[in-house]
Amino acid sequence: MTPTLIASPWIAGSEDALIGYMLTGGFGSQILMGRFDFLNDAEMAAVLSYIRQEYGGGASPITVERVASVREQVLGNEPGADPLGH
Ligand code: HEM
Repeated sequence: MTPTLIASPWIAGSEDALIGYMLTGGFGSQILMGRFDFLNDAEMAAVLSYIRQEYGGGASPITVERVASVREQVLGNEPGADPLGH
């Protein structure tokens, strides 16, 4: 992964922003990484809980319900759009 996830502010930061980043492939003015919206809610929760544990200094796990809720919010957003409307 580029850039490194270690010490990335995304990992241990806002759960919703991290989930949104993964579902949309990032957001902002530049194309970032690929979309991971093919993962179901349980898969996404497992992957993100793992990286937060390993690279996020033991940040809290991400629940399936949280992923489902953010997915609902970003549904219909254009690729590259800010999932949380910032
Ligand atoms: C478990 C899988 C993955 C997770 C959790 C993940 C997570 C992230 C996160 C949180 C960032 C933002 C890092 C930062 O800006 O501090 C990021 C950036 C990035 N990821 Fe991933 N990623 C994954 C897989 C991949 C894969 C498979 C690729 C490429 C094939 C990839 C390519 C990139 C690129 C190119 C960026 C930089 C985007 C930019 O800022 O321009 N990622 N990733």
